[in-house]
Amino acid sequence: MKTIVVGGQYGDEGKGKILSYLALVDNPEIIARGGVGPNAGHEVNYKGKRYPMRMLPCGFVNDKARLMIGAGVVVNPEVFLKEVAMIDAHKRCFIDFRAGLITKEHIERDTASENSKKIGTTKTGCGPAVSDRVNRIGKMVTESPELKPYLIDVVKEVNSAKNVIIEGTQGFMLSVLYGTYPFCTSKDISASSIAADVGLGPTQIDDVVMVIKAYTTRVGGGPLKEEVGVEEAKSKNMQEYGTVTGRPRRTSMNLHFDDLRLAATVNGATQIAITKIDVRFPGNAGVTEYAKLSKEARSFIEDVEKELKVPVTLIGTGPDTESIIDRRKR
Ligand code: IMP
Ligand code: MG
Repeated sequence: MKTIVVGGQYGDEGKGKILSYLALVDNPEIIARGGVGPNAGHEVNYKGKRYPMRMLPCGFVNDKARLMIGAGVVVNPEVFLKEVAMIDAHKRCFIDFRAGLITKEHIERDTASENSKKIGTTKTGCGPAVSDRVNRIGKMVTESPELKPYLIDVVKEVNSAKNVIIEGTQGFMLSVLYGTYPFCTSKDISASSIAADVGLGPTQIDDVVMVIKAYTTRVGGGPLKEEVGVEEAKSKNMQEYGTVTGRPRRTSMNLHFDDLRLAATVNGATQIAITKIDVRFPGNAGVTEYAKLSKEARSFIEDVEKELKVPVTLIGTGPDTESIIDRRKR
């Protein structure tokens, strides 16, 4: 099985939680990350500890899986090495030798540029590193002595393995092709691009899980339908803060089905995972059986299935990896 997990909104859908669960129950040999770079902040809460992951796959919680970063990702060596040390995984972390390098100069450019300020980027140097790569002037990971021990041919590994989970980053509405341009990230981050990032062809992908949150948030500039103020979001426990930047996230208490339909189409979603059902519908925290969800929560999930015509297979009911309902047929 080769399964891609992508975000269906503006990032921060709770991919970290879904990915860590899938890594534990589906027993992948390899978990490979595509997407942009350390602008991503994926939160994993496992066995009482919180791990804010920016470079390594969230599936690290399965300690038998090898963790890989694909050629399409731009790598910040400092962030990478810190995370490898944090999860104590020196022997099972790898980077494709074709990946691009983020330098201090990229971070400076991302921090100082007027355009970055307007977009409200994460200031992690990702945009400048991606654009240098496109201009064919970017440095490669092979130019960093400290990354040398980790470099391999990820393409070979993911194509020869049977069971692989591929992690996307950000969310569909931040795609440079399909999102709210110019308020978006520097790459397309839909499932086809994520597959290419790690070196898998489209015919090799069995499943695409699109993760959505039961309400909508975004950080940085750009449009957000039905946006509410901080106080209103707080009153519904929906006010969130960025994993990478600590910025308050902007909130809309609803789902935007026109956007989600486009996201499901372009991603070729075969399954939907919904997170934070317990926040949108209080009283459902920690539920692990569908029948035990409240009536409102169940009718909300049925609405999503009707609107998107894709089955909702995974339902998150709390921050912990184990707070989940798994409706997949096995
Ligand atoms: P950049 O990707 O750092 O260039 O930022 C461009 C836009 O994408 C900004 O609005 C960021 O807040 C947003 N963004 C980038 N990565 C993420 C993410 O992982 N989650 C949420 N928003 C993100
Ligand atoms: Mg995030």
